[in-house]
Amino acid sequence: MISDTLQKARDFEAQYAPHIPAAERPAFHVTAPIGWINDPNGFSCYKGEYHLFYQHHPYSTNWGPMHWGHVKTRDFIRWEQLPVAIAPDTPADRDGCFSGSALELPDGRQMLMYTGVYRMRRPDGRMEEFQQQCLAFGDGVNYEKYPGNPVLDGSDLPAGGSVLDFRDPKIWQEDGTFYMVAGNRTEDGSGAIRLFESKDGLKWTYSTTLDASRNEYGRMWECPDFFPLDGWRVLLVSPQEMTAIGLEFHAGYGVAALLGSYDKASRHFEREAVQAVDYGTDFYAPQTLETYDGRRIMIAWMQNWATTGSQPQGCRWFGQMTLPRELELRDGRLIQNPVRELANYHGRKVSYRDILLTAGEVSLHGVEGRLLDMTVTVRPVDGSPSYQTFKLRLAKDGNRETVVRYKVANSTVRIDRTHSGFPYDIVNVRDFPVRPQGGAVKLRIVMDRYSLEVFVNDGEQAASMTLYTPQSAQAVSFEVTEGAARIDVEKYSLELGEESKS
Ligand code: FRU
Repeated sequence: MISDTLQKARDFEAQYAPHIPAAERPAFHVTAPIGWINDPNGFSCYKGEYHLFYQHHPYSTNWGPMHWGHVKTRDFIRWEQLPVAIAPDTPADRDGCFSGSALELPDGRQMLMYTGVYRMRRPDGRMEEFQQQCLAFGDGVNYEKYPGNPVLDGSDLPAGGSVLDFRDPKIWQEDGTFYMVAGNRTEDGSGAIRLFESKDGLKWTYSTTLDASRNEYGRMWECPDFFPLDGWRVLLVSPQEMTAIGLEFHAGYGVAALLGSYDKASRHFEREAVQAVDYGTDFYAPQTLETYDGRRIMIAWMQNWATTGSQPQGCRWFGQMTLPRELELRDGRLIQNPVRELANYHGRKVSYRDILLTAGEVSLHGVEGRLLDMTVTVRPVDGSPSYQTFKLRLAKDGNRETVVRYKVANSTVRIDRTHSGFPYDIVNVRDFPVRPQGGAVKLRIVMDRYSLEVFVNDGEQAASMTLYTPQSAQAVSFEVTEGAARIDVEKYSLELGEESKS
């Protein structure tokens, strides 16, 4: 049955979304047809395609009562819009359908597990928000909420687990058993990842706590994902209220990859290493899936909670997903690169080799644009670094630019949107350490009108940034300071055609 709340959201989108011209949104990064999005949800395989749901408030460009929006794809680049999937319309989720995940069941149904939220006023007048896990079943377009919701609530948590912060279930099935990880606040005020199990997907029991922050990596841990990768086990978490740790973790909302091993028999996760996942200004709440051909693909919300109030004037959509990325584990590090399908949309190629940069800004014929996939390798002229910084300026016009800069002295890359024309006092700059290889650094830049994603040295580091510079700012330039360097540039325009906006 389609509730009035859901029908209203579907009708609203159908009526107003077509008024937003395709050119006013990204060409291949997921946005809502209209309104707000945050976390990716239910990123999963279903009947030969890949589905993605997302936290969605159709009626404004701000967060509001959470619905799940819905798209699907065959190649992670072209997305087909589907009607809003679920809305906050039952007692168990009356104040919001928060983040969760999805699974194809053996009987062909698609199962969604999400956090149902309801608020209640305490005797002292304060409002409290209770979080519990709920199910919905459907056919890839329409979903029925499970009448037995919630299937997990505060009474299922181990001692000390807070029912006010118990959310974002990620489910999977293995050897006939359903498993689920969720974020939960513990007695010390910080986050833990709880593992639950179920034989039938309906009746769940707590199994163990896989890992906990102990106030070391932020406070509450949101949006966990837990998966095997190249012989390791990866636990992704999105900590709130991080205290900065060197250049590895910036303060605020971040994403940490906890790398380790997992003993299935004892359900024991042993953390061996921790790293940031993305070093940019806009990246949160990632989710992964395993493709039909065995690749682990991650997508995230390309935004940060700290900057959601700073929106372009007059925008009718706000929030976008990152480009889906292929994950690998190499030398104990999480490696990320754009999905290989992006190459299918490469248009005109322009390439230059061994361009000598000395003083002054250089532009190269044919290297410009806001829809591009470009790799720039910069290296010293005769073996040792003989320049101080390399600056790549993008989305540039007379007075605007977005800069990707490599600094030799401390081997850092900086992304900088200070002069991208955005009139808000938000975080505009991030620096992060990279590993030059023989004095050379390779920067792959993917731009899609309102964003820039950098992949350094074949995916050793990634950094994401949104930018709302007018599309007329198209120029690209290259510059070194103090000395000389050589660069190779390989640039493709990205060609999608308007049907990609369906
Ligand atoms: C993360 C998050 C989740 C929650 C959702 C609500 O960005 O706070 O923990 O489920 O957003 O929209």
